Amino acid sequence: MTCYYFEKIFNNATILFMRLDKMLANSGYGTRSEVRKLITRGLVCINGEVCKDAGQNVGDTDTVELDGAKCSSKEHLYFKFDKPDGVLTAMEDKRLPTIADFIPASLMTKKLSPVGRLDYHTTGLLIITNDGELSHRLTSPKYKIPKTYQITFEGQKITDDMVNTFAEGFTLDDMDTPVKLAPSTLVPVDDNHCLLTIKEGKTHQVRRMMAKFNRSVVELRRVSIGDIKVPEQKEGELIEMPSSEIEYLLKATGITK
Ligand code: URA
Repeated sequence: MTCYYFEKIFNNATILFMRLDKMLANSGYGTRSEVRKLITRGLVCINGEVCKDAGQNVGDTDTVELDGAKCSSKEHLYFKFDKPDGVLTAMEDKRLPTIADFIPASLMTKKLSPVGRLDYHTTGLLIITNDGELSHRLTSPKYKIPKTYQITFEGQKITDDMVNTFAEGFTLDDMDTPVKLAPSTLVPVDDNHCLLTIKEGKTHQVRRMMAKFNRSVVELRRVSIGDIKVPEQKEGELIEMPSSEIEYLLKATGITK
């Protein structure tokens, strides 16, 4: 996979570098292909010099201008992470391991946070970013981004009735306030495994949905968010998202066209 940023140490200060096209796209100046066209047209200057090389690396201390106007780098960063069991989806905790333990020190100033929550014992895909708008939209039911979970459960095998009830939507009434759920897709795999795709994220939603039908979740793993799949064989590693995936997420949530 391409490495989009890297760091160098000058006079004991760590400077984060990134490709020019990536930096401009991340900062909201267009998609990668749109900003490449602007660069090729000679509209972009780095420290006062025209730069037509989209792959030129720019650092925190460089001044980038587009058509004469200084570009403010929002420096959005996007990562995928396969959360291990026994890790809190939080950036700090006094007692328990958190996902922050897996984030390199050089990125700790970047205001990264997880998109949504996985329970302490749930494993699988978490998106970690400092793009607050994307984070909000990915978790809001309004944008209907599907999240798919692989479930190992105890109890009777899944019935057709259960599949149909999930497809229609039902109400969870196990807490003080009843929660009406949107339709979801339940796919039996074998007698004690199934896949469930939901487009919202109520507290402990999957475990509660299964419990309502007397199935107890013994293992829960999120395998995808929209088209983004959990990285294979990379548990506990922070993986930079390729720009194709970032562009997909920005489009799927209506941030870009
Ligand atoms: N639903 C749950 O019950 N737990 C999770 O971690 C995610 C979805």
